[in-house]
Amino acid sequence: MRFDTLSIHAGQKPDPATGALATPIYQTSTYAQDAPNVHKGYDYSRAANPTRQALEDNLAALEGVPFGVAFSSGLAATSAILNLLKSGDHVVAANDMYGGTYRLFRQLYEKYGIGFDFVDATKPADIRTAIRANTKLVWIETPSNPLLKITDIQAAADVAHAGGALLAVDSTLATPYLQRPFQLGADLVLHSTTKYLNGHGDVIGGAVLLKDKPLFDQLKFWQKSVGSVPSPLDAYLVLRGIKTLSLRMQKHSQNAQAVAEFLQAHPSVNAVHYPGLPSHPQHDLAKRQMTLFSGMIAVELRASFEQSMAFASGLDLFALAEDLGGVRSLACHPASMTHASVPREERLKNGFSDELIRLSVGIEDAADLIEDLKKALDKV
Ligand SMILES: Cc1ncc(COP(=O)(O)O)c(C=O)c1O
Repeated sequence: MRFDTLSIHAGQKPDPATGALATPIYQTSTYAQDAPNVHKGYDYSRAANPTRQALEDNLAALEGVPFGVAFSSGLAATSAILNLLKSGDHVVAANDMYGGTYRLFRQLYEKYGIGFDFVDATKPADIRTAIRANTKLVWIETPSNPLLKITDIQAAADVAHAGGALLAVDSTLATPYLQRPFQLGADLVLHSTTKYLNGHGDVIGGAVLLKDKPLFDQLKFWQKSVGSVPSPLDAYLVLRGIKTLSLRMQKHSQNAQAVAEFLQAHPSVNAVHYPGLPSHPQHDLAKRQMTLFSGMIAVELRASFEQSMAFASGLDLFALAEDLGGVRSLACHPASMTHASVPREERLKNGFSDELIRLSVGIEDAADLIEDLKKALDKV
């Protein structure tokens, strides 16, 4: 089956009890057993729940792999992957990534004896140089948040595997509709389902997809033991969001392209980071690796810090808020919001300025979004 069919059908057979076609929200903590440990495959909802199972099967099918494990947030899913490691192991990670992932690595996992090196993952040679004998994981995020850098997944997989490490790809900004990391050699794919997969700004969730059964068993064990699971309602909402994923991603990408081109031509704009612009340093790679360029843009104005902040706060249709990937457009100041826990000197070294504004372009009418931006830019 092809993507659009899978997004609606995979994991979602009619309910065996009633024939309901919309996957029921199995809002139950537990399940009646016929005799001790004799049950219908479900004993307790921390371990398994039919609504969550439908979401896990659906996401696995969309990524084209046998296994999926859903979590209560993208960071809970990231944490599950990190727990495949042990003290003394080493991770090579991209230096441009979601600030919460960076915080989890540096402020939680480092203290358990896992070492991290952060490199420019757009250069496979830099990944290779950072790999050591104890490197077990290479962690990339592509497109990256907030600078929308594109990492060559195939090249990263080749260097990770040559060094005896697994490759994990945070593919949140692309979704399985725009990018297929497993076809390019990835071992683990992570999604914050909070973002485009759910797409409506009303759920926090995450998932890990994978091919390898022993690793899947370890992640399932972690999920059951720790209990960082999505609620049945949240699993239902993400499943529902996925039914329109391809339509939304087309519109997000189309709107973002129009907004990026508008911004690039505006005299008050200094730089626009969007993989769909020919000026983007990895535009050719993005064209090869993604089917469309998604809905995220980062922009720097020819303006003071104060004027940039006034611009971010002065938009009407773009609400100033954390989060991304929903139908409604958002603006964010990463340095003080989503990436506040990345040290300033690290950010500046990697080209991430104090003034950078991130836009999550929604699926409103692009002309209205551009008018909103124009109005705010004219005040700069
Ligand atoms: C690329 C990326 N990965 C992971 C996460 C973490 O996801 P969550 O907020 O669902 O924990 C985010 C959140 O913004 C993100 O942007």
